[in-house]
Order: sequence, then C-alpha cells, then structure tokens
Amino acid sequence: MTDAALQRATEQVLAAKTRPLIQVVTFFDEPTFTATHLAFDPATRRGAIVDSVLNFDYASGRTATRGADEIIDYVKRESLKIDWLLETHAHADHLSAAPYLQQKLGGKLAIGREITTVQTVFGKLFNFGTEFARDGSQFDQLFGDGDTFAVGEIPVTTLHVPGHTPADVAFVIGDAAFIGDTLFMPDYGTARADFPGGDARGLYRSIRRLLSLPAETRLFLCHDYKAPGRDHFLWETTVGDERTKNVHVHDGVDEEAFVAMRTARDKTLDLPHLILPSVQVNVRGGRLPPAEDNGTRYLKLPLDLL
Ligand SMILES: [Fe+2]
Repeated sequence: MTDAALQRATEQVLAAKTRPLIQVVTFFDEPTFTATHLAFDPATRRGAIVDSVLNFDYASGRTATRGADEIIDYVKRESLKIDWLLETHAHADHLSAAPYLQQKLGGKLAIGREITTVQTVFGKLFNFGTEFARDGSQFDQLFGDGDTFAVGEIPVTTLHVPGHTPADVAFVIGDAAFIGDTLFMPDYGTARADFPGGDARGLYRSIRRLLSLPAETRLFLCHDYKAPGRDHFLWETTVGDERTKNVHVHDGVDEEAFVAMRTARDKTLDLPHLILPSVQVNVRGGRLPPAEDNGTRYLKLPLDLL
C-alpha cells in the first residue's frame, strides 16, 4: 500500500539532519497534565504553538491566562514571531488558549479537517442550534492527511491520526512529530479511545503509522501522567523508544490484542474532570460562548447524557 503522506513525512525527517533542527520549548500545565509545545525555527525565529491551555477552575467558573501569559512572555523575550496556533484535536480535558494567544501574538489557528465530524457530534450533544457552524469556519485553516506548510523555513507534513477522536492530526515539523493524544510515554502507554467518535482499532492503525516514521523521529506528546516508578513529568520520546518499550503497543503487539486491552482499560476510566466545559469551548476554536444580555458568559451542562 502506498502512503504518500507518510512517505513525505519520512523524507522530511531524514532531510532535517542537514539544517538546524526545530527547537522545542515545553510548558507543562499540571492541573490538566497537558504539555504545550512552542516549536520554532532557530534560523528565522518563526514558530508555532501546539495545544495551549486556558486555566479554568470548575468550582468558581473562573478562567485565567497564567499559562498562556508565560508562553507570551517567552515569545517576546526571545523575539520570536508566531505564525501558527496548532491544535492536534478538540481536547476534552482542557480549554484551549489559542484565541487569546492569537489576539496577543498573531498567527493562524489550525486543526484537522475532520473537526467538522466532531462539531456535528458535539453540536448535537450540546443542542447548539444553527448559530453554531459545523463547517470548521471557527478556524483559519483545516489540515488533512498529507497537507504541508512550514514553520519558518522548516517543512511540516500533517498526518491524520484518528482514534482518540475522529479528527486527530499529528504535525511532523522537520524531524519532530507533535502527535497529540495517540501515544504517551513508553512507560505509560496510549490515549483512550472511548470518547464519542473514538475508535480503538483506528487508534492502533494511526499509532502503527506514526511508528513507521524513522526511529530517530522525535515525538512530542500532548500529555503525561507520570507512571509507576517515575515521579517526574516527561513529554518527549522517539519512534525507536516507543517501538521497543511502549507498554501498550511495542513492536509485536497486534491489532486484536491492542483493541482488547484498550477497550477493557477504557471501561475503567472516569471521564476527564473538564470534558463538558472543554469540548463545548474547543469545538468553537477555543472561543468562549458569547455573553448573554447581562454581560455574563455561560457554559452548558447536559444532565444524564454522558
Ligand atoms: Fe485529548
């Protein structure tokens, strides 16, 4: 089977050795265990911010921009120019800070093309009505499998990696792949596949596809939860390490075994604390709902549905 997108990403990783590598600075949000990556081309100082977090306190309904402001400070201090705000998927465990970052730093907001499927599912679940467009128009750009763009002068290839959600994409920037919720650290395993539209079989195939990139490909994860015997957070690994050591999906684990494991494990997991606030904001490109006539914004809480 030919896989032109994977081929392009592979060639790109191999070619990356001939020029300065994409530089990555990570900001970790401990309450949601999310790693936001700032990736920039050291030659042009142009960069992308992948999977940002807006702080949110559920009990008080308060949002805050502490995490995003830290990134903004770094970008300004290092005189970087942000061209892209990338989302690997519509997150279910944190609110995106992309609109805030865009307002402060510029750049285009992008996500996977299949976000329209996720918008359809959750538009219905939240009974959003016709004011909520389900065509991805809340984003500046939608990327499909094999689509290419650049961060500075470093080429990027998008890979569609559905499973955790139907819309997940990985951004392969030079030799570094930002893989969202697919693989986690080798000692922790893989992302869950039981959200509306999730699919364990699809996740396995997406993961095997990522693992056919060159062994030295750097992988940057969206989350880390530590692991038994490890008391510090990690968010970077390689294809080679995942292939030999991933506890769920190292080489030799076949599709049936993975699907059985993933399905059984997902049944034991609680829903993420912030799934309801997160999803309804993130399918709108991270924008909070408009204020009502008293000037206050409200989120919806569907009862007895999930
Ligand atoms: Fe996720």
